[in-house]
Amino acid sequence: MKVLRFADVIASGAATGKRVFIRADLNVPQDKEGHITEDTRIRASVPCIKMALDAGAAVMVTSHLGRPTEASSSLKTLLAPVAKRMGELLGREVPVVANWVDGVDVKPGQLVMLENCRVNKGEKKNKEDLAKKMAALCDIFVHDAFGTAHRAEGTTYGIAQFAPIACAGPLLAAEIDAINKALANPKRPLVAIVAGSKVSTKLSILQALADNVDKLIVGGGIANTFMLAAGF
Ligand code: 3PG
Repeated sequence: MKVLRFADVIASGAATGKRVFIRADLNVPQDKEGHITEDTRIRASVPCIKMALDAGAAVMVTSHLGRPTEASSSLKTLLAPVAKRMGELLGREVPVVANWVDGVDVKPGQLVMLENCRVNKGEKKNKEDLAKKMAALCDIFVHDAFGTAHRAEGTTYGIAQFAPIACAGPLLAAEIDAINKALANPKRPLVAIVAGSKVSTKLSILQALADNVDKLIVGGGIANTFMLAAGF
């Protein structure tokens, strides 16, 4: 699959001094007090942000955290702990901006984190008016949220339709490369292992993989669905 990559956009000089909106997947597990218990996704999102900053862009990054209802805010869904951890990794403060849909004040060389995108009305249902407003915030939209790439929401899908430039961040591009390589000309036997908590969102990928692989192993929560169907 050929996609426009953020690295190529940067190499063309198109990101310098421009407003870059990065959709990351910073949906990390937290304990009861809201402390992050595992930060892989935050660490995995750092390269894209660094690329944008190094290119001299004005950088906005957002993510969902949990599944808040629109317009709500609770300890478990606010991005402050995520911004703090990202700040530690980047060695700079990462301010969190709330109520950002109608405008974000960010200058070239600066980085801000836009509060949980799922509290915005229309995000989950990918409403066009929200997508247009978010696209108007930026010159370049970068999709780097591999863990949420299967969702057609405002920040993962709608914004890409209206942003002047939409491209794949390094994390998403690396995953696309890996899956293309694994499926185009694999060494056999080819085994796929798919896990997760929600089988409903994985049925299409399971069906596609089943046509290509020699063995398909399901694990995690989704294995329960198959075990139930098998009579266990
Ligand atoms: C995940 O953790 O599976 C992704 O971040 C997507 O989260 P979601 O299932 O709440 O959309």
